Amino acid sequence: MTATGPAPLGDAETLRQRAADALASARERTATLTTCVDEPDLTAQHSPLMSPLVWDLAHIGNQEELWLLRAVGGRDALRPDIDKVYDAFEYPRAERPSLPLLPPAEARAYVDDVRNRVLDVLETTALAGGDRLVDSAFAFGMVAQHEQQHDETMLITHQLRRGPAALSAPPPPRAPAGSAALRSEVLIPGGPFTMGTSTEPWALDNERPGHHRDVPAFFIDTVPVSNGAFERFIDDGGYDDPRWWASEGWAYIREHGLAAPLFWRRDGGGTWLRRRFGVTEPVPPDEPVLHVSWYEADAYARWAGRRLPTEEEWEKAARHDPDTGRSRRYPWGDADPSPDHANLGQRHLQPAPVGSYPEGASPLGVRQLMGDVWEWTSSDFLPYPGFAAFPYREYSEVFFGPGHKVLRGGSFAVDPVACRGTFRNWDLPVRRQIFSGFRTARDAGPEAA
Ligand code: AVJ
Ligand code: FE
Repeated sequence: MTATGPAPLGDAETLRQRAADALASARERTATLTTCVDEPDLTAQHSPLMSPLVWDLAHIGNQEELWLLRAVGGRDALRPDIDKVYDAFEYPRAERPSLPLLPPAEARAYVDDVRNRVLDVLETTALAGGDRLVDSAFAFGMVAQHEQQHDETMLITHQLRRGPAALSAPPPPRAPAGSAALRSEVLIPGGPFTMGTSTEPWALDNERPGHHRDVPAFFIDTVPVSNGAFERFIDDGGYDDPRWWASEGWAYIREHGLAAPLFWRRDGGGTWLRRRFGVTEPVPPDEPVLHVSWYEADAYARWAGRRLPTEEEWEKAARHDPDTGRSRRYPWGDADPSPDHANLGQRHLQPAPVGSYPEGASPLGVRQLMGDVWEWTSSDFLPYPGFAAFPYREYSEVFFGPGHKVLRGGSFAVDPVACRGTFRNWDLPVRRQIFSGFRTARDAGPEAA
């Protein structure tokens, strides 16, 4: 069994170009998300869960300054005076509106200034030579991923924002013919596979190192759980029956009066409607359910006589090639994602219908593992054996522990640069403003091993 696919980055010039392209496309998206609303909407706090958009904007530039200008480039600090305000660990999100934030025009000038200098650093830095931070342009890839992650965060802020739509995008293609007839679950045979990676150049610290895991046989849903299926759970009284709920989840939904996914409400006739980026529309039954918490996903699975997959089951379903024993970079192979593989990159502002993207299926036929909706797993966010924080403890290490649950696969709002078969996301089990859904699993038992 080899560890993982080939390193995808080529010679020095290709590498420099890839880094420059990743930074440029992140900045294009940031610009869209921060110019589609007016100044008051940029500085307002649309939800206590979120920062003002103008905080995310300058935080993106400040992280870029810290890592690429100061750490990689050895340059003097441009704006040491603002470091504290844009340090995510100094002030909670709810307090950020009252900080002395750079106003929108100044924030834009700051991120532009940083970027221009960074492109100069990129031109003049050797991207090989033994320094982990710069080898394979790691820090540039990390900063591009960081900006794309905050772009997803800002898209969540746009979804929470009240008022008319500021963003639009074409709907995803309809599911291909025959997807309604897909078998409901796929058997993943028992045995070892390689989880995580030691070779993917831009993989973040929590994805490392690659290591073997022995995973007993299990069944996993072919596609994510749909809105239609989730409505059956609601109609069956799922939110009123403590048998299905983890005790803290039950307490939480009772205290907050939750009885449906976030952004859903019933119209007068009992039809489910949802608010999506400023537009109210009927809930499409064939789309993956979105905006559910870990507790809701866990309760649905129990109601269905099933369970959430563990993180290692999810990754084995996504990456293990039973013919070669190798772990792939993506379910479809080692090629970077294309629009035929997955709904990524905010090309659409919603998940695609279940059964979409047959070209993105895993070797055993599991679909939509990448893109569409982040998928809750049953697992706590924990370090892999041999984990070492790099380059900073605050990205992953400080979040390890039983408080955070792992999500996998990425949503329609995730850019390909921040999406891999090994990529790990995490959040509190009560959170549902994120673009979260799930699929379910069950043990296969010894006869299937
Ligand atoms: C990996 C999405 C949980 O947004 O808190 C952004 C990513 N880390 N800036 C987050 C992140 C630092 C992180 N998540
Ligand atoms: Fe950040």
